[in-house]
Amino acid sequence: MILKSVSIVNFKNHKSLKVNFSDHVNCFLGNNGVGKTNLLDSIYYLSFCKSYYNSIEFDNINYGQDFFMIKGDFIDKNQVDFMINGSLVNNKKSFKFNNKKYDKLSNHIGKVPLVITTPIDANIIVGGGEERRRFVNKFLSQIDKDYLLNLISYNRVLKQRNTLLKDSNNFNLNEDLMNAYDVKLSNFAKIIHQKRQDFISLILNNVQSYYDFISQKNESIDILYHSELNNYTLFDLLKKNREKDRFLKHTSSGVHRDDFVFKINEYSLKKSGSQGQQKTFLIALKFGYFDLLKSNLKITPLLLLDDIFDKLDNNRVEQIIRIINKNEFGQIFITDTSFNRIDSIMDKVNSVCKYFIFDKTGLYEEKFKK
Ligand SMILES: Nc1ncnc2c1ncn2[C@@H]1O[C@H](COP(=O)(O)OP(=O)(O)OP(=O)(O)O)[C@@H](O)[C@H]1O
Ligand SMILES: [Mg+2]
Repeated sequence: MILKSVSIVNFKNHKSLKVNFSDHVNCFLGNNGVGKTNLLDSIYYLSFCKSYYNSIEFDNINYGQDFFMIKGDFIDKNQVDFMINGSLVNNKKSFKFNNKKYDKLSNHIGKVPLVITTPIDANIIVGGGEERRRFVNKFLSQIDKDYLLNLISYNRVLKQRNTLLKDSNNFNLNEDLMNAYDVKLSNFAKIIHQKRQDFISLILNNVQSYYDFISQKNESIDILYHSELNNYTLFDLLKKNREKDRFLKHTSSGVHRDDFVFKINEYSLKKSGSQGQQKTFLIALKFGYFDLLKSNLKITPLLLLDDIFDKLDNNRVEQIIRIINKNEFGQIFITDTSFNRIDSIMDKVNSVCKYFIFDKTGLYEEKFKK
């Protein structure tokens, strides 16, 4: 998958921008606040129909304007051109594939596989369990529609069960309805739990080998899947906890309480990992996921790397360059504030590399690395 060009009108600070990309490495360079991440986000938008950074759509419109548009020209794995238009006009989001409007945005997801790593992903490590569940859900939904469907059904029944618990007092709980919910919830949970378990054991090897390579075997890492369902069926847990749930007025057991624990040298990465170690782990996690996505979809995803070299020592940066040079990745988009740092890193990259240099007035120079 190759993104040949992007045209933007009124997306965040970019009022009007058209860029033609290199098929290999693209670097967005410039000082803080010039719009490097925003350009990266416009590419993400074309893939996921939403911003990676802003959940409120209106915030993506250039201040004082009332719409934005993003257009991407792509080449698929069979070398066929296609075009994607995404826009927000009159507060309505619309997506078109070759000028034909999608009925549902969800039909677009998966057309442009993409992996992004950004500084805000640190929350996956330092945040609460919800962050890690969201991350695993998003990853699995990209490669496994069945997982997504089970998750949607699980959340729906969970909501119904919680409403029933909230609406009843201790004497009038509809036990028959509760039993029916418990059966459904347990069936969906069993599938979700199995798929999460398989996913962790699949990705763990990839992540470990990337981490070993980048850190040059200085540290060992692990991912543990914490779930009550590792030992019990949800049906038994719900039965056991029914009185407690009745009292709490919500469902206290289930896959919505799962967590994923990241370890470094046997200790918690969240509590004792350095910033560089945490960053290395995140990059290894994203690269590991990239491989999984690529082998599942048989398409090479776009790779978006926002500020990845910051906080890493030179040895680790060099190792990442070696990984990029192995050519397992297709098209890469990198942001950085330092032209000199990127230019000396790119000296070691074999692929064609194009620079896009921004200042506060916008994009002022595009050039291929000599
Ligand atoms: N809706 C918007 N309209 C206009 N400008 C916006 C909008 N949203 C964000 N901005 C501006 O975009 C700029 C941030 O852009 P971006 O995050 O892409 O910077 P960056 O080049 O990645 O900087 P850094 O090096 O700090 O990461 C800020 O100056 C912000 O004010
Ligand atoms: Mg940025």
